[in-house]
Amino acid sequence: MTALAVRYTGARTLAAGVAETPPPGAGEVELAPAFVGICGTDLHIFHGSMDNRVTTPAVLGHEMSGRITRVGPGVTGWQPGEAVTVMPLSWDGDCPACTAGHRHICHRLNFIGIDSPGAMQQRWIVPAATLVRLPESLALERAALVEPTAVAVHDVSRAAVADGERVVVVGGGPIGVLIAVVARSRGADVRLVELSEHRRSLAARMGLSTWNPVVDDVPGLAAEWTGGAGADVSFEVSGAAAGISTAVDVLAVRGRLCLVAIHPQPREVNLHRFFWRELTLVGARLYERADFERAVALVADGTIPADLLISKVVPLAQAASAFDILEKGGDVMKILVECA
Ligand SMILES: NC(=O)c1ccc[n+]([C@@H]2O[C@H](COP(=O)([O-])OP(=O)(O)OC[C@H]3O[C@@H](n4cnc5c(N)ncnc54)[C@H](O)[C@@H]3O)[C@@H](O)[C@H]2O)c1
Ligand SMILES: [Zn+2]
Repeated sequence: MTALAVRYTGARTLAAGVAETPPPGAGEVELAPAFVGICGTDLHIFHGSMDNRVTTPAVLGHEMSGRITRVGPGVTGWQPGEAVTVMPLSWDGDCPACTAGHRHICHRLNFIGIDSPGAMQQRWIVPAATLVRLPESLALERAALVEPTAVAVHDVSRAAVADGERVVVVGGGPIGVLIAVVARSRGADVRLVELSEHRRSLAARMGLSTWNPVVDDVPGLAAEWTGGAGADVSFEVSGAAAGISTAVDVLAVRGRLCLVAIHPQPREVNLHRFFWRELTLVGARLYERADFERAVALVADGTIPADLLISKVVPLAQAASAFDILEKGGDVMKILVECA
């Protein structure tokens, strides 16, 4: 058969075209992606800012749901027709990170959808080891949120958020909102700091309390909220220099700052505050298998407010229009591409 694929061909260009559909090799499966989420990294690629890493033409997409269409030789335990998502990581297994048990941040990690072809196509071949089973009761549209939810689950675990703790999330894009929702599900009391009025109002509809860093004195409000102590945990999910300052300034003595956003350039940080309050900085990158499985459960049981997070669904052939909308920074949260 022939299938449609959308390829990034160079700065700001996505082209829809026909793709070959060879049979899956040993240990591989072929999938029919149903829905693919567009994330900030896909936008960075689209802008051309990752051209040194991405080989063009490149099929993007690593947040997905779909069904198995063909199973390659030697693959057991999976059948055509089954609903799945993909944990899009492939590691070498023998570098120092892998040897230490941290395969998800392998020194030679292949992030499928960035370093190798992704899901924005009608047929996609992946290693069977990347598959994660989805319950039949879970709508595939919602299941496209499992990957970013797994990011949030990993982040909340890295920060060791405990029941009753007070948490400030700085940046209310899809990842920040998911962190806030996952932290709340662990019993934390959460405040979300976000610039966009649209995103704050969406978060409010999810029952989250929000602060606007333009008009609110966020560290002052955090102090007031905590009887002068400050928050136990903050998450930096904005990617902005101002967001780092906020995440440092809201913390209590012995507070933990979890760094989730990607800051490609070195940033200024108030290290005196780290010294004075004995703060801890924790990095968080991607997810492990257990995070993915927990994310499936949170999306399936409705903890994740999928309907409020998904702003728009566009057909595969019009994927470029979705990138345009996100690029213009309109009133959107998550946009999905429908591949069927
Ligand atoms: N650690 C990981 O493995 C991982 C995985 C996925 C994404 N990320 C990163 O996480 C970050 C967030 O991802 P996203 O998809 O939600 O991005 P996003 O750009 O949609 O969201 C960032 C939000 O921060 C807000 N913001 C900007 N400056 C602010 C400030 N000073 N105070 C408060 N809010 C501010 C913006 O209005 C925006 O809504 C990105 O940097 C992304 O690259 C990291
Ligand atoms: Zn490795």
